[in-house]
Amino acid sequence: MMDWTDRHCRMFHRQITRHTWLYTEMVTTGALLHGDVPRHLDFNAEEHPVALQLGGSEPEDLAKSARLGEQWGYDEINLNCGCPSERVQKGAFGACLMGEPALVADCVKAMRDAVSIDVTVKHRIGIDDVESYDFVRDFVGTIADAGCRTFIVHARNAILKGLSPKENREIPPLKYDFAYRLKQDFPALEILINGGIKTIAEIDAHLQHVDGVMLGREAYHNPFLMAGFDARYYGELDGGLQPTRNDVIVAMTEYARVQLALHGDGGKGLRLNSITRHMLGLMAGMPGARAFRQTLSDSKRLALGDPALLMEALSHTQLVTLE
Ligand SMILES: Cc1cc2nc3c(=O)[nH]c(=O)nc-3n(C[C@H](O)[C@H](O)[C@H](O)COP(=O)(O)O)c2cc1C
Repeated sequence: MMDWTDRHCRMFHRQITRHTWLYTEMVTTGALLHGDVPRHLDFNAEEHPVALQLGGSEPEDLAKSARLGEQWGYDEINLNCGCPSERVQKGAFGACLMGEPALVADCVKAMRDAVSIDVTVKHRIGIDDVESYDFVRDFVGTIADAGCRTFIVHARNAILKGLSPKENREIPPLKYDFAYRLKQDFPALEILINGGIKTIAEIDAHLQHVDGVMLGREAYHNPFLMAGFDARYYGELDGGLQPTRNDVIVAMTEYARVQLALHGDGGKGLRLNSITRHMLGLMAGMPGARAFRQTLSDSKRLALGDPALLMEALSHTQLVTLE
């Protein structure tokens, strides 16, 4: 999620679930082909499985960018056909690509020819005032003909004029049944559903109809929801390495220490806050959650750059075990 997630966030989420697929925010072909590639593509080896999401609409540029992603070690390339922002529309990609399925098919084909990892597509169910299911069915059918096997369906329309990206995640109604129908009409394809999903019960209900579920905001705001995923959805019968919140803090303290030593650059480089800002929701719903958040948001303490702040934040919750 642009401006929210990054490799530190994924590293944090990876401490909570070993198997859940993690996605980068959208990275544009322009940023990759003319910008600072390591800044956009660097990630921690522990993040696997991790997918790179691309934004673009030029088959050749997307093919080059996908190749870069594969060379950097990503496990999947995902094409964004769901972002409604004005800036993205000016670049003629994101959700407006849903109006050009033949072009998306060309893009997918060019990327598939360039890499051996999976190329997947994330999209909406329609744009503007399109109400008909046939629109998304034809979109998916055309892209599937180009060889795409996996579709992540954000199950609401994108309104290209008049709504902000935030409103576009809230106002157009969710129509989960459109994603369910896609699975019925294309049983051989992998259909994942996304949009407004917040609980294990909701995930389980969707999995009766589709192959997978993508979480956005809830994963960010309430990340410990993912703690049971390895056992529940990835067949780790003994619960796998199901961590406690305490374990996560300990692991992230060590991670922050190493990262600051490598990239801290005497206060000019990486800041502690760049890592801890993703962790404010770790105690969501638990006693002491507020004090935990406050400690991790204390700008004076963060500026000192001492990862021990994480353990101190933990001590404000009832989870800490004093030795
Ligand atoms: C701040 C923010 C940035 C986002 N950036 C992206 C993005 O880069 N690529 C993308 O496919 N979706 C992006 N999204 C959309 C989410 O991935 C997701 O599709 C949407 O929020 C609906 O799912 P949710 O209700 O589980 O959050 C973003 C969402 C938010 C809140």
